[in-house]
Amino acid sequence: LALNGIQLFIAYIIGSIPSAVWIGRRFYGVDVREHGSKNAGATNTLRVLGPKAALPVFTLDFVKGFVAVMLVHFSDYTPGTSQFVNFQLLLGALAVIGHIAPIFAGFRGGKGVATLAGIGVALSPVSALLCILVFAVVFVATRYVSVGSMIAGVCYPAFISLLQPNAPMPLVIFGNVVAVLLIFTHRKNIKRLFKGEENRISFKKKKS
Ligand code: G3P
Repeated sequence: LALNGIQLFIAYIIGSIPSAVWIGRRFYGVDVREHGSKNAGATNTLRVLGPKAALPVFTLDFVKGFVAVMLVHFSDYTPGTSQFVNFQLLLGALAVIGHIAPIFAGFRGGKGVATLAGIGVALSPVSALLCILVFAVVFVATRYVSVGSMIAGVCYPAFISLLQPNAPMPLVIFGNVVAVLLIFTHRKNIKRLFKGEENRISFKKKKS
């Protein structure tokens, strides 16, 4: 049991790597949490520092989630058992908690979207990839990343239920918690959307 506790601790530490904060500070001398939406995520990095900074932030945040779930292979649970799945869910949960409340950045992190995408692809690839598709469609249609993220998050438990009718109950619960969590982490975006103040991403090149 102690050995499995270590994997959970490592999952939180991996999730806590504040990619947006570290890349922004190290390469641009900017803490993205002081600009734009003030969020430490790929979207705000794109808004504040541009695509060259945002791409590695997204990739790292995604990989954090994926790798954390993969730590299950260093536990003593056997693939195919319910304990194995439950442990994967716990690892994912700790990684996303780390991302949202990172120990390395004063517990002020991101909203969990990219990290949850990595976790989702590791846990339930078909449902997660469909969510990424939903995200892409909504984002292109509205140019609001937040709306794409929230709708994709709400679709996640629906896809799990539709595509995996025999999905273990903890995975179904996890999917629903993810949907609620993403709405919660986007609460400021929701307020901005209602006020008509949410920032759209422009596809046109900015003149500098
Ligand atoms: O990356 C999270 C996204 O859904 C919203 O980010 O910076 O627009 O609040 P942001």
